[in-house]
Formats: sequence, structure tokens, C-alpha cells
Amino acid sequence: MSDAAPETDAPAAAPATDAPDVPPEAWSGVHRGPLREGEWVRLTDQKGRRHNFCLEAGKRFFSNRGHLDHDDLIGREEGFTIPSSAGGEYLVFRPLLSEFVVSMPRGAAVVYPKDSAQIVALADIYPGARVVEAGVGSGALTCSLLRAVGPYGTVTSYERREEFADVARRNVHQFFGAPEGGSHPSWTLRLGDLAEELPRRGEGADRVILDMLAPWECVDAVADVLSPGGIVCVYVATTTQLSRVVETLRAHGGFTEPQAWESLVRDWHVEGLAVRPGHKMIGHTAFLVTSRRMAPGQRPPVKKRRPAPGAYGPDYSGPRPGDLPPGIELEGTDL
Ligand SMILES: C[S@@+](CC[C@H](N)C(=O)[O-])C[C@H]1O[C@@H](n2cnc3c(N)ncnc32)[C@H](O)[C@@H]1O
Repeated sequence: MSDAAPETDAPAAAPATDAPDVPPEAWSGVHRGPLREGEWVRLTDQKGRRHNFCLEAGKRFFSNRGHLDHDDLIGREEGFTIPSSAGGEYLVFRPLLSEFVVSMPRGAAVVYPKDSAQIVALADIYPGARVVEAGVGSGALTCSLLRAVGPYGTVTSYERREEFADVARRNVHQFFGAPEGGSHPSWTLRLGDLAEELPRRGEGADRVILDMLAPWECVDAVADVLSPGGIVCVYVATTTQLSRVVETLRAHGGFTEPQAWESLVRDWHVEGLAVRPGHKMIGHTAFLVTSRRMAPGQRPPVKKRRPAPGAYGPDYSGPRPGDLPPGIELEGTDL
């Protein structure tokens, strides 16, 4: 990774070979062998409460079930139980990516694992892809993107707030186990506004992922760098953002009809005859929108279906689609 400065080099096109002491599989973020100092571990108690911390020789972990020494964990193969000083018992593993991102230090709100999984699948992130994302926030989605593109792909992350870029850099380095002064070979982190930086750099992209307050401001810049057939995927928290970004993509004319959806995930309690949905559920995280870039000068087919009554009536003040069936006049009408 380059530094979080606007003048960094283009992302690496091939895996770095000069990162000392880091085996190639480390770039998956999966670490094998005995637990080492500097690695994160995840302890789960008998009530299912979880504690995540970084292993440091000579340190102690304290909880309401007493304490245990980090030295008693370091050097052991993960996947064991260990007693605490007050008779508690803890299960010890390295955190999975989905566990790491919800417990790591945060600057901005993170993309939750259920949504990262959807983004990777529905934005079709593949090994070798050139992915651009903004903003990097805390780096949660970045970890999933880096895993999906692998060592021959590239992820270029734009972030306009330096303090968030710093948090993201630390989190991504921690997850992938980057050596001191090194980074994931496929990652470039750039400080700046995507809408300004993308046109300035002129680098192409196969996929662009936007997780920010005003993604519609970036649609023109994204259209300029995205290759024909490429996918833009937008993650927004509110219905007003959802509407505006979908209408902006439609009005642009160089993208396919945007698809919008959300995912709801519910845990199940399965115990003997007591098999029922869990009581708690994360009701809403965000909406996702995907759309594909048309080839230069090409537009998607004119829609045959009329908009829903009132969709673009007098109360609607957002961007208006330009592909209405012939004879339908939208401005100021109450269709
Ligand atoms: C919700 S956070 C992103 C979280 C991130 N995807 C993650 O999973 O950790 C939104 C971030 O976008 C950044 N941002 C907003 N607009 C931006 C723009 N036009 N260019 C670059 N970064 C932007 C904000 O500073 C903020 O850090």
C-alpha cells in the first residue's frame, strides 16, 4: 500500500515479493500456527460474551471472571479452552474476518459482514479485479475487497478524512498482519475526495463501491473510470439517499437500470424441541444499489413501462430520468 497521500504511485499490478518474513498466505488475513504476540485473539465465555484483544507478553486480561495471562495463550494452537483465575472458562480462537471488523477500533461506521458478503457477491468482485472504493472509513469493507481480489487484483481506497484513513490503515494492516512499514501488496490508500481524485488520475476500474453520505456527487467520476460492463455498487443508510442515487444513475443514461435491495439476517435458536427464530435481530443496516456501465455512447433500452402514478409528480424534485416512453411528459405532471 502507498501512504495516504494524494501523490502516491499507481496500485501494484503484481504481488509484492519484497515483504520480509510474511508468507504469501498471510495476505488472506488467515494466520496459522501457534498464537503470536501482536495477534488478536477472541475469547468467548460460557454465556457467549466475547472479548477481543491483542496478545502482549507479560500482560493480563481481566473480566468479571477473574484474569488470565497473555503468556498462557501465546505459543498455543488456537481452538482451546482456558480457565480464568475466578473459575470462568474461555474458548480461544483467532477472530474471523466477520468477527474482526465488528470489534476493531472504529473511526466511521463500518459495513457489516452481512452486507460485505452481499457486496462481494452482487458487485461480482473477483480475483484480479481492479476495485475502487470510497470512503475507506474504518477499513472494514476494504478487508473483504482485498480478500476477494487476491494478490493479483487491486483495491484503491479513497478517503477524504485523514483521521479515518489512519484508523483504516491500522485496521487493515492488523488484519492482514502487515510487517512494520509494509502493507497488503494489492492496496493503495489515497487521501482525497473521490469525485475530484478519480478524474485527475484517470485510472480504469472494473468495480466501484461507494459507501458515503452523498454518492450521487460521484456518479460522473465513476462513469468516466468504469470499464464497459463494470459494476458500480452503492451502500446507503437512508431511503432519501437511496432515491437520489438511483435517480442520478438513471438520469446519467450510461448505466443499466439500477437494482436496489437490502438484506435481513435472522439468527435461529436450535435446541432439542425448542427451534425458533432468535429474539434479537439487526433490523436495518443499509440499502445496496448496483448498476452496470454501458459501453461509450450506448444507452440502456427505453423503458416500456410507465412510472408509477405520482412517481415524478409536482412534489418530486430530484433528478428525472430521460428515457420515458414516447409521449410521456414528466415535468410538472402527476403521472
Ligand atoms: C460510512 S464510512 C465508510 C465505512 C467503510 N466502508 C467501512 O466499511 O469501514 C464513510 C466514509 O466516507 C468518507 N467520504 C465521504 N464522502 C467521500 C468522498 N467523496 N470521497 C472520499 N471519501 C468520502 C467519509 O469521510 C467516511 O469516512
